[in-house]
Amino acid sequence: MKKTIIIRENRIDEAANALKEGKLVVFPTETVYGLGANAFDEEAVKNIFIAKGRPSDNPLIVHIANINQLKDLTGEIPEYAQSLIDAFWPGPLTLVMKKSDLVPEIITGGLDTVAIRMPSHPVALKLIKLSGVPIAAPSANISGRPSPTSEIHVVEDLSGRVDYILLAGDTSVGLESTVLDISGAIPQILRPGYITYEDIHEIIGQLKYDLHLTDKNITPKSPGMKYKHYSPKAKVIIVEGKYSRQKMTSMIDDYAEQGIKVGIMGTDELLKGFSGVVCCSLGDAKKISEVGNRLFRCLRDLDQQKVDVILAESFNREGLGVAIMNRLEKAAGYHIINSEEDMQ
Ligand code: TXA
Ligand code: MG
Repeated sequence: MKKTIIIRENRIDEAANALKEGKLVVFPTETVYGLGANAFDEEAVKNIFIAKGRPSDNPLIVHIANINQLKDLTGEIPEYAQSLIDAFWPGPLTLVMKKSDLVPEIITGGLDTVAIRMPSHPVALKLIKLSGVPIAAPSANISGRPSPTSEIHVVEDLSGRVDYILLAGDTSVGLESTVLDISGAIPQILRPGYITYEDIHEIIGQLKYDLHLTDKNITPKSPGMKYKHYSPKAKVIIVEGKYSRQKMTSMIDDYAEQGIKVGIMGTDELLKGFSGVVCCSLGDAKKISEVGNRLFRCLRDLDQQKVDVILAESFNREGLGVAIMNRLEKAAGYHIINSEEDMQ
């Protein structure tokens, strides 16, 4: 066990110095908390993988605070990258580009590309600036668990495993960044996120999804997408279709008979029909960004309430719904029940 020092922004200098010295610092971003180390310090980066229990072939995102840092890290940058940078940085878009020789192999898992993003959270930007180096950072969860979006969840996972945890409340986006590969002929979304297909399409036109996002049998191009992910301890089942509420009610009854404790995760509209069941609200059904913001928090909160099974509402796979359903399907191990098939 390491001694972890938990601080807030007023002690950000300490955290920046720790990064310079090769230590591990957990810090907030607008998407989820990140587990950072100096990207040029191989030993420090190695320790990220140990602290998270992360497979070493899963490459890391490098976080920068200004455009000069981008030039150090990349080889060739396609011309249209500038319009993406102008439109979305700082913000939740990660760009995968050809890497420069300065980027250690441990960051890229041996790939010839590197993933880079400039976060918009003011504390993240300040920390990177003060440290003076690009910061490699995966999400600050134990590998396989939902990414932490609140203080209690980040402390729960990484206290005793890192040198510093810099806290700044809940993150605002709640889902990890969109990962866009611009190293090939046609830009490809490797991981859907807050910046949607439509948002990117508006800026650059030509664009596609990595095939694995539409066909589960295809190996994802982004190594991290192939691992089991976002999993709470409870079993998650997605219930979709127009009879979801009725289906969930009958499932709750069946589980109750077997002594299995159920939690429901859905928007207020769905939840108002349930009483005497543990529920976690994903907010207003009309505000899809609220659903994204609360998704990981709910998975972890329901775990804390020691439910055995989580029944989750399903969302339209359009706009931000693509990223929400991507995370939810992984959390559920693709276990989806269509309420219309057996409730008619
Ligand atoms: O919002 C976020 O992106 C958060 C915050 C902390 O910035 N970070 C994050 O990192 O989600 P992580 O390590 O949990 O996810 C990084 C994803 C993984 O799926 C990884 O495989 C992919 O990015 N990735 C990293 N480098 C890559 C590369 N060179 N080529 C393809 N995919 C890459
Ligand atoms: Mg992650």
